Amino acid sequence: MNDDVIAPAHQADHEKLLIVDFGSQVTQLIARRLREVNVYCEIHPFQNVTDAFLEEYAPRAVILSGGPASVRDEGAPRPPKRIFELGVPVLGICYGQQVMMQMLGGRIERGEGTAEFGRAFVSPTETRTDLFDGWFDDGREQVWMSHGDHVAEMAPGFEVCGTSPHAPFAVIADTDRRFYAVQFHPEVHHTPNGRTIFENFVRIAGFTGDWTMGAYREQAVAAIREQVGDGRVICALSGGVDSSVAAMLIHEAVGDQLTCVFVDHGLLRKGEAEEVVGMFRDNYNLPLIHADESELFLEKLDGVSDPETKRKIIGGLFIDVFDKHAGEIGGAEFLAQGTLYPDVIESVSFSGGPSVTIKSHHNVGGLPEKMGLKLVEPLRELFKDEVRALGVELGLPPSFIGRHPFPGPGLAIRCPGEITRPKLAILREADAVYIDQIRKHGLYDEIWQAFCAILPVRTVGVMGDGRTYDYACALRAVTSVDGMTADFYPFTHEFLGETATRIINEVRGINRVTYDITSKPPGTIEWE
Ligand code: XMP
Repeated sequence: MNDDVIAPAHQADHEKLLIVDFGSQVTQLIARRLREVNVYCEIHPFQNVTDAFLEEYAPRAVILSGGPASVRDEGAPRPPKRIFELGVPVLGICYGQQVMMQMLGGRIERGEGTAEFGRAFVSPTETRTDLFDGWFDDGREQVWMSHGDHVAEMAPGFEVCGTSPHAPFAVIADTDRRFYAVQFHPEVHHTPNGRTIFENFVRIAGFTGDWTMGAYREQAVAAIREQVGDGRVICALSGGVDSSVAAMLIHEAVGDQLTCVFVDHGLLRKGEAEEVVGMFRDNYNLPLIHADESELFLEKLDGVSDPETKRKIIGGLFIDVFDKHAGEIGGAEFLAQGTLYPDVIESVSFSGGPSVTIKSHHNVGGLPEKMGLKLVEPLRELFKDEVRALGVELGLPPSFIGRHPFPGPGLAIRCPGEITRPKLAILREADAVYIDQIRKHGLYDEIWQAFCAILPVRTVGVMGDGRTYDYACALRAVTSVDGMTADFYPFTHEFLGETATRIINEVRGINRVTYDITSKPPGTIEWE
């Protein structure tokens, strides 16, 4: 982590919950569920949770996450004992349940023959616990299990409140000490009533639900003022939601001490530059430099068709161009970035080893070192949907907030093969017609991302009585939650037919339209 990063909106004044991470794939979902019920929480890897950390962080409740290890292994991850001496409610989930039992005097067995993965049903026992208020109204509840080991003997003071066919200790509680533990994962979608458990847990812990975007806005503004003082801040505004919300918030805090630079690389969609500049400069009065560098970018990309080379050229030029324009402002000490919480959570890695680079993502990561700037990152504590809510709170139009993601390298990666100006012009028109169709049919918000790619082939067609020899294009539309996996959107044949007709009739240069029905994996969302 960069030492210069000061989390600007330090949440000292909030009621805080601590999530101790043991490396589960779904730990982030625990945080999501808690934020949904207006509780501020942070995820910290178990190694970092020391007695001193607990003292300083002062959680009002603790959740121990799941994880891939076995508590029976030597050196298995453990939280400090102090967690159980704080006098605050503790909830253990899966591995969290096992480590809690082991540390408090219970016994764990290896899961030979009793491992359980996937859907299961939990039924209540005679013993009720307030953690499960609102559960079992219809008898049993569906949950999601994913465990090898299991509890064989509970720690003293605990009682069984729920069982499943393979998990006799599916739900256990020591209500006096407010310690609870579940074998299943209440945070995942496949435990449909899981949210109720989190609601009950935070109620038991006495949270008042003080985590709202209105409160966040006020604190963030105060914290930015404190960090920046009378210094100057520069911001690369792309028109994407994250950089836009970050810029609006910083502008609210320090006004004209902020200057935004909008780098126009000539690879934007139809009307995009005008829209971004019009909105932020003219409507919101953000000091904004419109750096039209399209000639430079297109010249350097001339003749380049390899996708990684395109990405590297664009990323490198972006930094140079931003550096040049920011230099003209003079005296900037701070660089604003729209970094989000998922980017800063330190994950617990048990696998080790680097993962394969599929695509080099375009970001402005090289800038702070190159320019010797300190970072202002007012969204570091927020998830994407919280950033959207904050954007609405700051007065950005919901239609803008709900825009589909657009990649940093822009249309360059939607133009496989060589990028030429005529191809870009055709692509812009076809994309505009396609998105217009999606909006007209009321489908925009159902789709996670939709765009057109122009293919590097020309095909023969017939229009009127004449032969045509024009480009083919591919339409892409996917549903997704986070862009990591995606499925193609199931348009009706009528919609596809109408869209193809409109594109061919309205866009000169295209005579064939195809629909991309590849999911991710094995495909990626973009074509390059
Ligand atoms: P892929 O094509 O990898 O894309 O499935 C996943 C999501 O990331 C976007 N994307 C990018 N976003 N800089 C960005 O800011 C990039 O270099 C970049 N490449 C892909 C893509 O549009 C999709 O939403």
